[in-house]
Amino acid sequence: MNISQLEKAAYLLQQDHLVAIPTETVYGLAGNAFSNQAVAKIYALKNRPRFNPLIIHCRDLEMAQEIGVFNNNALKLAEAFWPGPLTIILPLVQNIPVSQLATTGLKTIALRVPAHPIALKILELANIPLAAPSANPSESISPTSAFHVEKAFKSSDGLSMIIDGGDCNVGLESTIIDLSRKNPVLLRPGKITKEDIRSFIGELSNIDLGMERPNAPGQLKRHYAPSIPLKMNAQEVSERQALLAFGPFPILGAKKTLNLSPTANFVEAAANLFAMLHELDNPEFESIAVMPIPYEGIGIAINDRLSRAAS
Ligand code: TXA
Ligand code: MG
Repeated sequence: MNISQLEKAAYLLQQDHLVAIPTETVYGLAGNAFSNQAVAKIYALKNRPRFNPLIIHCRDLEMAQEIGVFNNNALKLAEAFWPGPLTIILPLVQNIPVSQLATTGLKTIALRVPAHPIALKILELANIPLAAPSANPSESISPTSAFHVEKAFKSSDGLSMIIDGGDCNVGLESTIIDLSRKNPVLLRPGKITKEDIRSFIGELSNIDLGMERPNAPGQLKRHYAPSIPLKMNAQEVSERQALLAFGPFPILGAKKTLNLSPTANFVEAAANLFAMLHELDNPEFESIAVMPIPYEGIGIAINDRLSRAAS
């Protein structure tokens, strides 16, 4: 990646234009977090509901501390996992000019430092925090390559530049943990698991949906969805279906089969998930059948994304 391209990207971001950038999780649709104009373009381009707030990406912990009020647990997790696929929700620092569209007017803010050299370089050059949701239309499958972004926003003039950083190596959106409440709550599972986090700050609970308002941030049920139906925990498959297999013994008989991980490795399966869904999302198939994936470790995050795609 040549530096003048990254300088151009940084300049465009400072001018409130949108740039798609690679991160280790998925590609992000980035805009200046201090600019309502830039953030409004993000919501418009994605057709994203206005009540769903954005993650703010920072160059480092220092930049993040200018925006979020860090408690002890937050400092421990930032030290352990940043840069990396962990987003932390914290109280918003008062009188900081973060776009209220990005926070949807909440008194809290979602912060993360991405572990990708290109994303970090752009953040350093632009020297502003960047609001960046996944670079896909709302509800569709998240992008893990520059090609996925191009496919999604081809004819759109709302996106000024796409930076190609190759395939994302994590492949699932960041784990989100809310540390703005009395007790830590896991809002979205990801590669960094509850067990990983527990050893630093103790027990955390899952979000209790019954207790939250229906539109609680991040709890939109349908998400990451292909345009054809998706069926989980398949035990058999027909010749009209595509099969997303897992492990050494794929079910036989599908029109086309892709295997998330022939060795049943969760890290490999996570990295392949969205790319394989993009590839099988084709009207030549009646539906996509997905073989069972154990609910343990990163398998929990994979099942979370699949169940939203299936709903
Ligand atoms: O890996 C990722 O996190 C990717 C890359 C680009 O960094 N970004 C991403 O953004 O997944 P997005 O917009 O697809 O997901 C942001 C999530 C949403 O579920 C949103 O509701 C939640 O973060 N969120 C943002 N601010 C929040 C807040 N103050 N309280 C609770 N949830 C919040
Ligand atoms: Mg998304």
